[in-house]
Amino acid sequence: MNKITQLFNIQYPIIQGGMIWNSGYKLASAVSNAGGLGLIGAGSMYPEVLREHIQKCKLATDKPFGVNVPMLYPNIEEIITIIIEEGVKIVFTSAGNPTTWTSLLKQNGITVVHVVSSSKFALKAQEAGVDAVVAEGFEAGGHNGREETTTLTLIPMVKKQLSIPLIAAGGIATGRGMLAAMVLGADGVQLGSRFAASIESSAHENFKNTIINCKEGETQVTLKELAPVRLIKNKFYNDIQELYKTNPSIEDLKSLLGRARAKKGMFEGDLVEGELEIGQISGLFEEIKSAKDIIDDMIREFDIAKNEIKNL
Ligand SMILES: Cc1cc2nc3c(=O)[nH]c(=O)nc-3n(C[C@H](O)[C@H](O)[C@H](O)COP(=O)(O)O)c2cc1C
Repeated sequence: MNKITQLFNIQYPIIQGGMIWNSGYKLASAVSNAGGLGLIGAGSMYPEVLREHIQKCKLATDKPFGVNVPMLYPNIEEIITIIIEEGVKIVFTSAGNPTTWTSLLKQNGITVVHVVSSSKFALKAQEAGVDAVVAEGFEAGGHNGREETTTLTLIPMVKKQLSIPLIAAGGIATGRGMLAAMVLGADGVQLGSRFAASIESSAHENFKNTIINCKEGETQVTLKELAPVRLIKNKFYNDIQELYKTNPSIEDLKSLLGRARAKKGMFEGDLVEGELEIGQISGLFEEIKSAKDIIDDMIREFDIAKNEIKNL
């Protein structure tokens, strides 16, 4: 038992991060059934779709699960109302100000965790009354910190100042990675990329196959002027780089991004024109695995590595 397994009442301190177009109830319940904490990613769901996923998740697992709410998406009030109405017990907020919703969620008996990419915002989240913080390094897939702080430096810096439990994210996908993060001071880990390439992920097979074929150096953070995001370098990514050569305005960037690019890439499998969000650690993956195998393999490797370091 540690602070994170106690906080969520789970077996292993492994969290599956909320991921637009990847983490519906199938993935969240599979992770929770395997002893981790699964999160439904509300960011790509209309409110009623979210309600359906919460209801299906309750049927698919009797273990704790949660919902991730990126606060930059619309319909946030409706989303929060549904979460409260459906009796969700755990919420991970991200991409926004933690003071906005934390107290309402806490008043409704919900455990609240906020995702940050700097010590400054980790402290703000703590002040806002959250129960734990996810500190996410620059290696991570999806939206990213502007300051480019990597997990290896971020975790000890946040740890030094924070008194509430700390979850490390960004570049972690194995038992050795988990042990390293915990040696640096984390109480648990959050994984995104590894679970995006799982059998239960709702991503398109084309995207899952692209992830496991992704090599070191094939992702990059871009669109810093809008919201920095780590992408696979496909044609859409190259189009962004071409546009940058013309000294584009924010409006030009917005219009290239257009609407539903992430859906097109990750959910519909358009590998050319779609936005393909994934982390640097994808260079390590060899196969699409079930959520249970991902977790079991991590725990096995964690135990082996823990024994090995005794001899260092
Ligand atoms: C495809 C994809 C979509 C993501 N979408 C979200 C999201 O909707 N909300 C969020 O808070 N984080 C999102 N993330 C970040 C993850 O929750 C997680 O923190 C991150 O992936 C951890 O780093 P890793 O990719 O190196 O494991 C996303 C990540 C990926 C790979």
